Amino acid sequence: MTSFPISLIVHGGAGSWRPGSESDAVASMAAAVLVGRKILESGGSALDAAIASAVALEDNPIFNAGTGAVLNLDGFVEMDACVMVSPGGDFKTARIGAVTGLQRVKNPIIVSKQVMEETDHVMLTGNGAQRFARVMGHADYDPVTADRRADWQDKRSKLENELGSQHDLQPDSMGLPTPSQFKLRSFLKTHPEFAGGTIGVVARDAQGAICAATSTGGYTMKLPGRVGDTPLPGCGTYASIFAGASATGTGEYVIRSLACRQISDNVERGMSIAEAVDAMLDQLGHDFDADVGFIAIDANGVPYGNHRTRDMPHAYFSGSSEIVAKMRVEK
Ligand code: GLY
Repeated sequence: MTSFPISLIVHGGAGSWRPGSESDAVASMAAAVLVGRKILESGGSALDAAIASAVALEDNPIFNAGTGAVLNLDGFVEMDACVMVSPGGDFKTARIGAVTGLQRVKNPIIVSKQVMEETDHVMLTGNGAQRFARVMGHADYDPVTADRRADWQDKRSKLENELGSQHDLQPDSMGLPTPSQFKLRSFLKTHPEFAGGTIGVVARDAQGAICAATSTGGYTMKLPGRVGDTPLPGCGTYASIFAGASATGTGEYVIRSLACRQISDNVERGMSIAEAVDAMLDQLGHDFDADVGFIAIDANGVPYGNHRTRDMPHAYFSGSSEIVAKMRVEK
């Protein structure tokens, strides 16, 4: 049986990394790659490798996924995650699982894998997703760290101070945000520190399968109920026989452009994986000046990552190469 070169790439979110924690982020990237690499090297599947690397990142509180996920406008965490495994030539065999708006679970990426494997569905949301997770044995777990809570309190008061009477930040009588809170994009744009980040993994195994896995808390101060690009197949997560990709950055731009699907389509049309990712970044820059980044692997197992933000911690290996880990792609 043919054995394909194995490879794996991870990212820890596009944005501006907090000064002082850069080396921690880069080392964590390399460690997450190593977890998945060991699985691939012992003959394990791209799916198992991607999930294991994603769990390592979800469990690391410096990243915005699982433990350490950011808080929404009302001060609680709603997480999105998705896993997709490349089909064997047609879409009948595409395997996808996703969760949106999931609360109080330690590892949303495992729940999304269980949606894929244990249900007839592709995606579960909110309370239904949480009930499913409990049945699957996920205990009640508070992913909010003391740092994230303090950060949220600081940002919430900044929001109230700066927007003042123009934006009534008192919840209405139903405990909902007021309409003036529905559009905070211009405020958030002047405060890049409000950005969230995401974690993502793409892996390719010796059988030639490609798996993409992405997990996130979204971004700080998102409206409760907001769903980003991460759990939407073809948007923030995608795997085909041509390529797998995982996105990071403001999800609304990624959703509008079906970005990860477009990366795969670009490869199908003959672009290299680097050309395909860079073309998508150019398009998102032209259309939205979007703060986004991607990691991807093609059918030859070539890994590639790039971003339009200052930073995007990422790491990868291919075949027998050393693990390369960086804070950013130097332009
Ligand atoms: N890319 C993550 C999000 O926007 O939710």
